[in-house]
Amino acid sequence: MCGIVGYVGKKPALPILLSGLKRLEYRGYDSYGFCVFNAGQEPFFHKRVGKISGADKELLEMDIQGTIGEAHTRWATTGSVTEANAHPHFDCNKEIFVVHNGIIENYSELKDQLINEGHKFSSETDTEVLAHLIEKFLKEKTEVGEKRKLEEAVAVALKLVKGTYGLLVMAKSEPEKLVAARLSSPLLIGVNDGEYIVASDPIAIAPFASNIVYLEDYEIAVITLGNLSLAKERAPEKMEYESEEAEKGDYENFMLKEIMEEPTAVENAIKGRLIIETGSVKLGGLDSVAEKLREIDNFILIGCGTAHYAARAGEYMLEEYAGIKTDVDVGSEFRYRKPILNDKTAAIFISQSGETADTLACLHELKQKGVLSLGVTNSIGSTQSRETDAGVYTRSGPEIAVASTKAFVGQLATLAMITVYLGRQRTMSLVTGSRIVSELARIPDLARQILLQREKIKALAEKYKGYKNFWYIGRKYNAPVAMEGALKLKEISYLHAEGIPGGELKHGSLALVDKDFPTIAICLSDSVYEKMVSNIQEVKARGGIVIAIATEGNENIKKIVDDVIYIPKTLEMLSPLLSVIPLHLFSYYMAVALGRDVDRPRNLAKSVTVE
Ligand code: AGP
Ligand code: GLU
Repeated sequence: MCGIVGYVGKKPALPILLSGLKRLEYRGYDSYGFCVFNAGQEPFFHKRVGKISGADKELLEMDIQGTIGEAHTRWATTGSVTEANAHPHFDCNKEIFVVHNGIIENYSELKDQLINEGHKFSSETDTEVLAHLIEKFLKEKTEVGEKRKLEEAVAVALKLVKGTYGLLVMAKSEPEKLVAARLSSPLLIGVNDGEYIVASDPIAIAPFASNIVYLEDYEIAVITLGNLSLAKERAPEKMEYESEEAEKGDYENFMLKEIMEEPTAVENAIKGRLIIETGSVKLGGLDSVAEKLREIDNFILIGCGTAHYAARAGEYMLEEYAGIKTDVDVGSEFRYRKPILNDKTAAIFISQSGETADTLACLHELKQKGVLSLGVTNSIGSTQSRETDAGVYTRSGPEIAVASTKAFVGQLATLAMITVYLGRQRTMSLVTGSRIVSELARIPDLARQILLQREKIKALAEKYKGYKNFWYIGRKYNAPVAMEGALKLKEISYLHAEGIPGGELKHGSLALVDKDFPTIAICLSDSVYEKMVSNIQEVKARGGIVIAIATEGNENIKKIVDDVIYIPKTLEMLSPLLSVIPLHLFSYYMAVALGRDVDRPRNLAKSVTVE
C-alpha cells in the first residue's frame, strides 16, 4: 500500500527515487509520480496511472540532474485512480509539492474553507489540502510580522489536520530543503555521508544506507545536503535489514520463494530460543516484563487477515497449554467493543508489517487503558515493535508477496513458544514443555517433507481450476487454518472461497454444497478426526467433492474423499504449521494456472496502513 521515497544528496535524484519506488512496488499501488528540483530550472514533475515498470527508460532518458526530490506510489483512498489524483500534489501556483501516505479525515471541511479563501484545486484527493494549507501559512505573516520557514508552515498546517500522514514537502522558495513529517504512517530517513534517503519502508533504503532514523509521531524533520534537523536530536540506528533476502533469487516470484521458505521461517523463529532439557523457551524480548506476565490471567489477541487467523490458533494454544483465558478479535472490530479489562489483562498484537492501521489503533487504545502490550512482529523497527511494551520478533525475513505465507508460520511458531513461556510460568510441567519444544524443533524438517509434494499439489490445482467456489473446513486448531486457506485462495486467484469451522457446515452452509462446490477438509488424525469425518460424509451425501488434508498413514480417508494430500503427524497444537502449507501451495498454483499476478494481486496492498 502506497510508498514514499525522498532524496537529498550530491547525485541526480531521479534514478535513486525510481529505484526506491520500484523496491516499494510489492506493497501495491495504482499510480505514481515524481518531483525533482532541477537547480535553477523549473521542477521536473511527472505523474502516471499504472505500473512503474517500463517508465524507467522514458524517465532516465530525460537526464534530469536535480539532486533533491520526492516520489510516491499511490494506493487510492480518496479520489479515483487518475493522473490528476496521483502524487505529488501542489498548491495554486505550483510552488509547493507534497507526497503523502495516509488519510486526511477532515479534508472535506478544510477544502471547503480553502476554496472559500480562493484556492483552486486540481484533484479530488484529500492530500491536496496539505499543499494549499502550507501555501496559506507560507504566505501569511506570523503574529510578529515574520515570514514562516517551510517547516514552520508545515507545522501550522498539520495542527489543523485530523487523520494520518507520512509526508514529504518541497517548495520552490526553499529549493535546498526537504521537509518530512509523520503521524501513524511510517517514515524512515537513511543517512549516508551527508546524503539522505527518506522512505516509508526500509526495503527502499537498504541499498543506499545502513544507518537510519525513525521519524516519530508528530515529528517534523528538515533535510538539506549535509544536515538533518530533528525536533529530538538523536544518532542514527543501525538498520537490521538484509536487502538481499528481499530478492527473488531463482524463483519466478516472491510468493513461491516465501512458501518454500516456510520451513526456514520456523527455523529462524525458534533458533536459539528452545531449551529442550528444561522444557522451556528463551524469549529475550519478554525479559523486561517477565514478572508482570506472571500476574496476567487473561489475554486479548488482536490481528487482521492472516495475522488474525494466527491469533485464533494462538487462542487454542494459550487456553489448552498455558491455562490462560484468551479472547481474540480482528483489529477493525475490536475498537467498537467495550472489553472487560483489569490489571491482569495483557494484549498480544500480531502483525507481519507492524504497520497495520487497524491493529495499531487497538494498540494505542489498550495502551491508553494501561494494558500490558506485547508484539508478535516480523518487521524490525516497525511502529508496532517500537510501541508495544515488549515482544518477540518472528524473524521470518522480508515478506514481499502481498499474500502472507511464511510470516503466518512464523507467527504460529512464535505463539507456540509464548505459550510454553507462559505455561512454564504457571502449571505446565517440564515433561509437557519438553514435548512441545522438541516437537517444535522437528517442524522445519516435517515442513520440508510437505514441500516435496509440490508437483502433486500443482496437479490438484490444475484439476480444480475450473471451479469457482470452494469451502474450507477444519476444527479446533485447524479451523483458523481453514479460514487462512480460503483467504489465500481468494486474494491471489480471485475465486470465491470461505473458511468455516467444520461443525458450522450443517447450520446452513451445507445448502451450497453440490458437485460444483468442492470442499477442502483439514481432517488430521487428532482429537477432532471423527467429527471431521462426519463433516466429510455430510458433503459427500450431497454429491459434494472433498479434498482432504490428512495425516500420513491414514489409508481409510482415501475411501471417502476424492483427493488427499498427506502431511506428517505432529502435536495437534503444532499441526497448523504443517496443514497450512498444502493450502498455500494449492492457492499459489491455482493463481498461476489462472494467470494471476501472484505477488501483486489486484486491489490489495501488502501493508494496510489506512483504517
Ligand atoms: C494476508 O495474505 C493479507 N495480505 C492480509 O490479510 C494481511 O494478513 C493483513 O493485512 C495483516 O497484515 P499484517 O500482518 O502486516 O498486520
Ligand atoms: N489518501 C491519499 C490519496 O488517496 C493517499 C493514499 C495513499 O496512502 O497512497 O491519494
